[in-house]
Amino acid sequence: MTGMTRAIPPGPERVEGRAKVTGTAPYAFEHPVTDPLYLHPLRATIARGRVTRIDTDAAERVDGVHTVLTHHNAATLNPVGDPELAVLQSDGIDYRGQLIGAVVAETPEIAAHAAGLVDVRYERLPHDSEFRDDAAIVYTPDADASPMLSPDLERGDVDAAFAEAAHTVDATYTTPPEHHNPLEPHAVIATWDEEGLTLHDSNQGSHLVRDLLAALVGIDKERVSVIAPHVGGAFGSKGMPHGHVALTVLAARRTAGRPVKCALSRTQMFELVGYRPPTRQRVRLGADPEGRLTATEHDSLEQTSRFKQYAEQSASASREMYASPNRRVTNRLAALDVPAPTWMRAPGEAPGMYALETAVDELAVRVGIDPIELRVRNEPEVAPVSGLPFSSRNLVACLRQGAERFGWHERDPRPGTRREGDWLVGTGVAAASFPTLFFPGSLATIHHESAGKYRVEIGAVDIGTGSRTALTQLAAEALEVPLENVELRLGSTEQPHASLAGGSTGTASWGSTVVEAARSFRTEHGSEPAEGVETTAGAADNPDIGKYAMHAYGAQFAEVRVHVDTGEVRVPRMLGVFAAGRIVNPRTAHSQFLGGMTMGLSTALHEHSVVDERFGHVVNHDLAGYHIAGNADVGSIEVSWVDEHDPHVNPVGAKGIGEIGIVGTAAAIGNAAYHATGVRVRDLPLTPEKFL
Ligand code: MOS
Repeated sequence: MTGMTRAIPPGPERVEGRAKVTGTAPYAFEHPVTDPLYLHPLRATIARGRVTRIDTDAAERVDGVHTVLTHHNAATLNPVGDPELAVLQSDGIDYRGQLIGAVVAETPEIAAHAAGLVDVRYERLPHDSEFRDDAAIVYTPDADASPMLSPDLERGDVDAAFAEAAHTVDATYTTPPEHHNPLEPHAVIATWDEEGLTLHDSNQGSHLVRDLLAALVGIDKERVSVIAPHVGGAFGSKGMPHGHVALTVLAARRTAGRPVKCALSRTQMFELVGYRPPTRQRVRLGADPEGRLTATEHDSLEQTSRFKQYAEQSASASREMYASPNRRVTNRLAALDVPAPTWMRAPGEAPGMYALETAVDELAVRVGIDPIELRVRNEPEVAPVSGLPFSSRNLVACLRQGAERFGWHERDPRPGTRREGDWLVGTGVAAASFPTLFFPGSLATIHHESAGKYRVEIGAVDIGTGSRTALTQLAAEALEVPLENVELRLGSTEQPHASLAGGSTGTASWGSTVVEAARSFRTEHGSEPAEGVETTAGAADNPDIGKYAMHAYGAQFAEVRVHVDTGEVRVPRMLGVFAAGRIVNPRTAHSQFLGGMTMGLSTALHEHSVVDERFGHVVNHDLAGYHIAGNADVGSIEVSWVDEHDPHVNPVGAKGIGEIGIVGTAAAIGNAAYHATGVRVRDLPLTPEKFL
């Protein structure tokens, strides 16, 4: 079964594919600039306290060192509401690895060498970096102390329903911290000359970076350009600019127009660009004799940092998923002396659905019915909390089609009964859901060059998902010309404003913008436009937002083998069936689902950032210690989707596909591991010792 090849579905190849594989597509650090300098960051080696003395003399004497920057000589920055960007503004240390200075030199090697000569003395304060139940500072929803947390949800009487339920599950699930490891590490080149500030930056939203950095340094945003034609992955870690961008800008202010280049190492990325925080989630489900939910409770405690708040809100995955007359959903934050967490692919949904979908599997075992049937019995008529109708909801179709393709019905439900050689074999299923979001405010320009050839401009960033190709297709379709007649320019603040590449919104938000701009162009200039005419327009407000509950759905299936002697878990086969509205490009969409599922497999089996709470840092902070699923870990992954026409979500009809592939994957694998062994593991990742 392993190594089965699957056909790649049809669809235009990536328009920039050739440039990428031949190495001519420039990533941030590779942009040619004249006479650059190189920045090496200095980072704190204590978890909390302050710098009492920082001696830079030896570093400054090194031949080739241009500048050493510390809080003593850094320019003052304006507060912009993001403490990560307030670099070198005081002597305070909030977490180990925090930026405390930089060496700028003629070569990266000189900068790194000189950085090692800077002598730093600290005053240490006690720190708390250990994520545990009884953390000293726990935030509850409170507009002042924890503005990011949603209010608790309380419907009916969960405790009474749970007490009366025929079947119950009451279990606690944990997920570890995980770090984003995009192929392209974070990098920026800052050039500050008489024109203003130019950043070649690896990011998820050039306009957002421009607006924040302009405010931070107090210059007109028209004088700041941010350029990102190609970005080698991000997963949320490039959603907001992090401290290294501010640091590089501070440095560029002191180099008399010479560009300053900064590329973070993998190890630096484990401290400076965010991560998915660990969670501890208690799920209580109560059901009637037939398995219909009468009570659903989901309470999540998750880590944030003391100096900057982030709320993963994993429990919110249980708000709208299944029908249940009684429901309680709460999210709490444990504030620690650690780097700030941030969004990571399917923030909230990925850990939250791991807990919920494992609990649902446990309930199916208690009730003694098939887990697919249990889910079908708990389908809501309308969105359970908002009461809104679904714009479309095809979870059952995904489960049924998936069961058929996967061969689910041949399954003997008894756990621990199928053995092949030294391997116990099992199969598992889980549901996936991800909200369909729309980020407003994008604009696109349609420019007619001549003879039916168009240039389309939108400042959106393609983080490697295939957005450039999908937008080119949508523009060509709306303008009724062949694909090759459209040249799409994106990634830069030279193009019209575009929303962030996040929340799986690219095709929905920018696609709708391009389609509506093309319609406006046709209205204005007709179907035979003159040479050189252009129109800039955005998408109109969608009157259906707020009238319908909008989500994409999916069903994840996995076959798992667990070795009887070593506990090693292998996943020879996975299948994902999704319902995500219109699929614009089957070829690139297939890759998005496949990538999400692979990342989910990696979450299930491997990914775990191990914190040494004595020092407050991640010890396995590189790709040798932090294992990400490679080809040898992956068997066959089959991806498909149901045809879904949703007239309500947006003009394109697309629900977003970047994140849903990672949702439910780890639960499907864990449920299959239980079916194989009879051992229910509730703590990710599913490492061998947990099965012995
Ligand atoms: Mo993504 S986690 O929506 O940036």
